[in-house]
Amino acid sequence: MTGLSERLLDMGFGHPRGPLGRLGGRLMARGNAATEQRLVDFAALTPDESVLIIGPGPGIGVRAAATRARHTVAVDPSETMLSACRKRCADLIADGKVALIQGDAANTTQPDDSADVILSVNNVMLWPDWHAGFTELRRVLRPGGRILLSAHDKWLPGGLPALKAAVTHAGFIDTQTWTWEPPTRGATTAAQLRAHLPATG
Ligand SMILES: C[S@@+](CC[C@H](N)C(=O)[O-])C[C@H]1O[C@@H](n2cnc3c(N)ncnc32)[C@H](O)[C@@H]1O
Repeated sequence: MTGLSERLLDMGFGHPRGPLGRLGGRLMARGNAATEQRLVDFAALTPDESVLIIGPGPGIGVRAAATRARHTVAVDPSETMLSACRKRCADLIADGKVALIQGDAANTTQPDDSADVILSVNNVMLWPDWHAGFTELRRVLRPGGRILLSAHDKWLPGGLPALKAAVTHAGFIDTQTWTWEPPTRGATTAAQLRAHLPATG
């Protein structure tokens, strides 16, 4: 891939910004919706739980989580994506069910032990430092809380074994990994992971 096409992909999908970012947001809202919904289903959220979503993009997963959980916080560095989320979730934000924060995986700005569940779709491959990201998520997740991740298998550096190693290194336990084929036409294989923190410590 040339430097130019890498930059265009980054402006559309990786770090969405400007007109290309808005177009990328619309494409992601359609193309990744099944995976966002699948991860929320798999998380089996309950009405008393607080959810943290890392890298929500246009906000499909935010809506899906917020209709089930007590409160949902979504953290994304892209103002273009936060704006798309704001439009998609305006009613839920007005009801106090959703909060949108500008930040990233290594700096969520959330208090210690504040989330029951962390969800992230098509995002971990963009983090510059997995150790910093998972250390931050461990801080924010309450003891016993769970994390569910999904990423395009073909773009996940080191694949699921590397992701599992990074999660385990940060202190998560009982890690399960698998792949899943989204039903969306043209979608690529999703690499998925679920783990939790020990109930104490
Ligand atoms: C490919 S999009 C995926 C969006 C959505 N989850 C989906 O699957 O359609 C990646 C998102 O991650 C965000 N992002 C990029 N780097 C990030 C980081 N270090 N931490 C958290 N989010 C990040 C981008 O702004 C963008 O919204």
